[in-house]
Amino acid sequence: MDSNFKNLLSQYDQSQVLNFWEQLSADQQRGLESQIQSIDYEELKGLINQAFHKSESSINPDSISPLQNSICLPENEKDREKWAHARERGHKILDAGKVAAVLVAGGQGSRLGFDHPKGMFPIGPVTDRTLFQIFFEQLLALSNRHGVRIPYFIMTSDATHEETESFLQEHSWFGYPQEDVFLFKQGTMPAVDDKTGKILLKDPSTIAMSPDGHGGMLKAMQRANLFEEMQKRGIDYLFYHQVDNPCVSMCDPAMFGFHEEQGAEISTKVVAKREPGEKVGVLAEFDGKQSIIEYSDLLEEMAQDYDETGRLKYWAGNIAIHIMNRSLLEQLATGDSRLPVHVAHKKVPFVDDAGQQHSPDEPNAYKFERFIFDAIPRAKNPLVIETSREEEFNPVKNAEGNDSPASSQAALLARAHRWMRIARYNCDENAKIEISPLIALEPHDLENQFTDSELAGAKIVLSPNSGDDEK
Ligand code: UD1
Repeated sequence: MDSNFKNLLSQYDQSQVLNFWEQLSADQQRGLESQIQSIDYEELKGLINQAFHKSESSINPDSISPLQNSICLPENEKDREKWAHARERGHKILDAGKVAAVLVAGGQGSRLGFDHPKGMFPIGPVTDRTLFQIFFEQLLALSNRHGVRIPYFIMTSDATHEETESFLQEHSWFGYPQEDVFLFKQGTMPAVDDKTGKILLKDPSTIAMSPDGHGGMLKAMQRANLFEEMQKRGIDYLFYHQVDNPCVSMCDPAMFGFHEEQGAEISTKVVAKREPGEKVGVLAEFDGKQSIIEYSDLLEEMAQDYDETGRLKYWAGNIAIHIMNRSLLEQLATGDSRLPVHVAHKKVPFVDDAGQQHSPDEPNAYKFERFIFDAIPRAKNPLVIETSREEEFNPVKNAEGNDSPASSQAALLARAHRWMRIARYNCDENAKIEISPLIALEPHDLENQFTDSELAGAKIVLSPNSGDDEK
């Protein structure tokens, strides 16, 4: 072990990570050394201090008030014109090649109980199209339509990187140009004992590390030179989405149009909450600035509060779809402007000083994460845009019930039927329909494309390469 690091560990009172050093193989020593070197000990000291002096939910409810402004779904002709105008403007932004997309896919999907990266989850109601395929096909359709290249940045973690990469390779990036796909790995943070502040060892040769949250995206993009890549390609805007929502409308032109028109540095899509207890963050004002308050931080009586029109005061559910300006992200990736760190009290298995392994039943450790949406209060003119849940938010999060594969597939199916009706087709109401994004990104794209015989049968797959085997 490099003596500088030995001294550093001792200076920060973390030498216990070397407890078993002498017993480790050369390979194990190298692995542990690189983990030790990856930690910013000064930052960690501050975080431990923060964890010990603040309770987990330390948001003062008096600092929270309802969202002031948002662009709501169109209700009348004037609104519809406003939206049409925004779409036009958004199309021009896409035409100009100013857009990249980023997918955060570092989470492990433990709630879903799926033992692979979540993007590999088969969600297509007829073909088992995976979440990844849906995203790639949307981007392919968009880049072809606009005659531009849209770089796709995919953030993975130690837990998801290798499998994601081999899965995408195996599927030839779903036809997307490989030079426009950038996989980059997010960073990790060590877990510390909740009584002593000491870094925990998962086993004698490994520090208990966990992903640093989706806010880790900024540092990770910087490390992978992705801001430079954007600059080089003349890209000003980053479209952000999560891995769990097959209904996301990738790089939605109307959203881009509003974003630019309002001079926003960040825009966020929201849907009206299904019920007060729905587990989504809400867009609100915190200390007078637009922010997202996580469901765990919103007092129940606030979540249940209605205004005089009968609408929830905290109605605007975060669906984790954003547009962010490159210039803002670059600034937030460095130095003093970095996003704040959230402390979570969790159960973390560890090995004690005597080499005994423990799997605690109660939280025993602090973990540290950054959230990308903490960029909102730092942004100029942050914008909130309402969208329709049926159309755009049907995530796969839980094994059963709401936000499960079954509810998400049902929503995809209902959406396909709705689109077909809007495009004036008569399909059997019991038919299972799946529409590839390569065929349609919106109902209007379906018009006058199909004959009655193509739409006969119990299973209909509308896809450019749908052979008989798919039907
Ligand atoms: C998240 C939002 C919540 C929002 C909801 C909408 C947070 C803290 N909360 O909740 O406000 O209403 O989505 O669906 O984000 N991820 C990483 N690396 C990490 C952690 C997460 O890439 O270290 C990715 C996951 O792969 C996933 C996304 O971030 O794509 C969201 O993570 P998840 O923990 O599932 O968030 P939710 O609790 O569903």
